[in-house]
Amino acid sequence: MAEPAHVPVMAERAADWLVTDPSGVYWDATVGAAGHAGVIAERLTEGGKLFGSDRDPKALDLATAALTAAPVTLVQARFSQLQEVWRQTQVKQLNGILFDFGVGSFQIDSAERGLSFDRDGPLDMRMDPDASPLSDWLNSADVSEIAEVLRRFGEERRARPIARQIERRRPLASTGELREAVRKAVPPKGVAATLARVFQAFRILVNGELDEIHAGLAATGTVLARGGRIVAISYHSLEDRVVKNFFRRESRDCVCPDDVPACICRHRAWLRVLTRRPEVPDPDEIGGNRRARAAKRRVAERTDERTVL
Ligand SMILES: C[S@@+](CC[C@H](N)C(=O)[O-])C[C@H]1O[C@@H](n2cnc3c(N)ncnc32)[C@H](O)[C@@H]1O
Repeated sequence: MAEPAHVPVMAERAADWLVTDPSGVYWDATVGAAGHAGVIAERLTEGGKLFGSDRDPKALDLATAALTAAPVTLVQARFSQLQEVWRQTQVKQLNGILFDFGVGSFQIDSAERGLSFDRDGPLDMRMDPDASPLSDWLNSADVSEIAEVLRRFGEERRARPIARQIERRRPLASTGELREAVRKAVPPKGVAATLARVFQAFRILVNGELDEIHAGLAATGTVLARGGRIVAISYHSLEDRVVKNFFRRESRDCVCPDDVPACICRHRAWLRVLTRRPEVPDPDEIGGNRRARAAKRRVAERTDERTVL
């Protein structure tokens, strides 16, 4: 049998959190190959509606093929375009929105995307055609800029030697050449983990991932109805930190710095966090799907009726 395009992580429980009203309106903002969307769609009754969006046109092809029986509307959009796209649909505010961050197997397993360090492909890494391929930036950036990206988005300790090796070997055209540059810069032990961090850092840069996540979460202040839920699944600490900090800030009445004697920010809480600690997959799921091992899920619910722009 053919490999599935992507195995969804913690899908049933994500749908349990998300679908509080089977006749409500839901949005899967990372529809991918529609694993989660399929489970959500099954929970809906007549009157229920599901929208699915993704920045990657390939994902939308896969989702279209997978969701033939479900009442789903699919649209190509980045998180930063969510508000605008939601307005165009003219549906009422949503009962729930799902973010399943990171990359799909159909992306990482395609050598031509250049997302995987163990497949030879071009230095691309784009999730949608509007971004610029990694090679454009990597072949012109300063050593210190490259090192900074490796530190910020990969939490890589050997950022500088890796950046120097990259500079020495430029122009780089393929993932294989990047892999060799990294291999030359670090001891052989642990090189796979270093490669994973380096590829993660460049992928985050190329796709503006952390800013996108922040923009998607911020959009929920407009698109979610009172009682509507945000379900967010992250795959590394940088993604999870953006979610955690957003939930923490937006569930507080005051966000003034500690040294301000009386509140001047007038910030009002509009979220309630429903998961005190992030939820993780059980060992059985991780045993069957290695990509689930780093997953963390956080859930919050909207508590007010204002539109937070
Ligand atoms: C882990 S996959 C989602 C898999 C999906 N839940 C499933 O069950 O098939 C993540 C998806 O998010 C999409 N994505 C990542 N960043 C995005 C962004 N800023 N805007 C929209 N989609 C994004 C990717 O293209 C990818 O298809």
